[in-house]
Amino acid sequence: MEVIIENDAAAVAELAAHIIGELVRRKPDATLGLATGSTPVETYKALIKLHRETQLSFKNISTFNLDEYIGIAEDNAQSYRSFMQNKLFESIDIDVSRTYFPRCESDQNPAVAGLAYEHIISEVGGIDLQILGIGSNGHIGFNEPTSSFASKTRVKTLTPSTIADNSRLFADDEFQPHLAMTMGIATILATGKILLLATGRHKAQAVRDAVEGALSAICPASSLQLHQNAVLIVDSQAASKLKHTQYYQWARKENQIIKDKFGYFPSLGN
Ligand code: PGA
Repeated sequence: MEVIIENDAAAVAELAAHIIGELVRRKPDATLGLATGSTPVETYKALIKLHRETQLSFKNISTFNLDEYIGIAEDNAQSYRSFMQNKLFESIDIDVSRTYFPRCESDQNPAVAGLAYEHIISEVGGIDLQILGIGSNGHIGFNEPTSSFASKTRVKTLTPSTIADNSRLFADDEFQPHLAMTMGIATILATGKILLLATGRHKAQAVRDAVEGALSAICPASSLQLHQNAVLIVDSQAASKLKHTQYYQWARKENQIIKDKFGYFPSLGN
């Protein structure tokens, strides 16, 4: 795991967008795994800027979102498709017919919907780069604490803490779902590269558990310790409970030297 500590949320977004942009330039038909939530919004803004100012084109990419609520129509403003449409898709030259979400209609068997999502991911040859946020309870996607490290796309019941964290986004009289379809932890671990973004002090304990804690289903993000190419980009507040920050900063400098010498190297967070 590579841990990159930036001063603030803006620098986290700049670096994440730079890494994604480099991938898309090198592989114009790349497949990206996308996340919703507050954290990646700044990264999406930075990608839109790259698109406008440097002609970075997304027209041949495919995208797979991590999760989607059950019980909310696709065109509802609260759906994760609407979120992605507003925050990214409508501002870049993406082909929306190649943007996928793990949808499950209320009359559909979630097991079948999960298998279908896994099938489309494997048909396109897998996900090159997956963006992740992290829940304050350590979840990735909607893989809540106790999720199996072997899990694939499936239905999950959200924990009360996740429902409370997300309640700020719903009006008092609005239906807030408690079920979602989410890529599983094994789905995430099968991606080529992972960028986990975390900003703010409220993420500090989850980041500490993920990076320096034991491998445990209680902290689903700790599963990234099993990925050979996982990069955590965090701001100083989210890094505030890490014990080995000096080492991470030193390793970043050493990695930069290798990168300057040998050029692009996917596992070095460039
Ligand atoms: P947030 O959500 O970016 O809104 O904090 C992260 C997550 O729950 O994965």
